[in-house]
Amino acid sequence: MVVTQFNSPVTLIVGGGARKRLAEQILKRGKRRVLVVTDANLLASGKVQEFEVHLREAGIHASIFSNVQPDPTVENVEQGLAAYRDSQSELIVGLGGGSPMDAAKAISILISNPLPLSQYMGYHKVPNAGCPLILVPTTAGTGSEATKVSVITDTLRNIKMMMLDEHLQADVAIVDFELSVSMPKTLTAHVGIDTFSHGLEAYVSRKANPLTDPISLSCLQLCSKHFVNAYENGENIEAREGMMVAALQGGMAFSNSSVCLIHGMSRPLGAHFHLTHGLSNAVLLPEVTQFSLAAAEARYAEVARRLEIIPNQAADREAANAMVPWLENLNRTCGIPRMRALISDQQAYESKLHEMAQAAIESGSPANNPRVPTCEQIIDIYRAIW
Ligand SMILES: [Fe+2]
Repeated sequence: MVVTQFNSPVTLIVGGGARKRLAEQILKRGKRRVLVVTDANLLASGKVQEFEVHLREAGIHASIFSNVQPDPTVENVEQGLAAYRDSQSELIVGLGGGSPMDAAKAISILISNPLPLSQYMGYHKVPNAGCPLILVPTTAGTGSEATKVSVITDTLRNIKMMMLDEHLQADVAIVDFELSVSMPKTLTAHVGIDTFSHGLEAYVSRKANPLTDPISLSCLQLCSKHFVNAYENGENIEAREGMMVAALQGGMAFSNSSVCLIHGMSRPLGAHFHLTHGLSNAVLLPEVTQFSLAAAEARYAEVARRLEIIPNQAADREAANAMVPWLENLNRTCGIPRMRALISDQQAYESKLHEMAQAAIESGSPANNPRVPTCEQIIDIYRAIW
């Protein structure tokens, strides 16, 4: 076995009501002033106020930075940094979906590393540990609570910067499915497919390893059991809990294996056409799987068996080939359209294909794919999903 490193938050607190353990974790670290990094939707929902009361009762002063935008930008992160300093906070709580959690991570490293943030793009570029960080996801999800990855949009270069470093890992993740129950249907679909693509890409990646494989497969099995139920009936507690655990596992798996071509191609779509992350993943999922299948037949076959879409005794080729129609059907069930329904201007789409393909390759993710594509092949896939 090659030498393998596995990182996760030191403390994971998981289950219904886990959010009530936040104050205890802050006090354990000797902190009494915190910045809660969140977004306007969470503030409007009343959930932030619930946390404020919980912290106040424990003698903790919480300042709220609720300006995180969807797909947070470098400027947005710098506003959060100013809020941290102005409030003399000692710890950051990232509360929300992927955007607030990724912004919280980026703010935390800027406390002890110089600007600009763009110098930390890529792998293992952050020299110093940031301030203490606790993440509380409210969607299921990006799995960002468990990863050492943060994605921030650089508006100057019009790219989604992927930063991966141990210093972007939270100290504590508090994963409480009760926070996800009110997620609207469309969001449930998009973040659920993101979770599925984390499990799948982590498992077929060239960086998959014996530590991540069981977690990847468990994530996929939980998705298979609970995703459509959570989508069709948001009040289904068992399904919400299952998807919250799947999201956490998906994050742990890809953070220690990798994502591959789906995520590599998805980020440029988000940067140029402002599709949400899960939606652009979903549109890419069947076509990228078709492209990749032959290079990792046994792995895709194992996934098909775990998803119970093919009898256990089916041969690898037959099992692997069952994946694409199953994924197409999953997209249909969850109302995922083709690209042409999301971007009306085909000429604008065509004009960006080369730039998007280059950005995908430069992110490093396609190099982890079982079948490593050329720039032209990536362009062909972008055309095929139109
Ligand atoms: Fe993702």
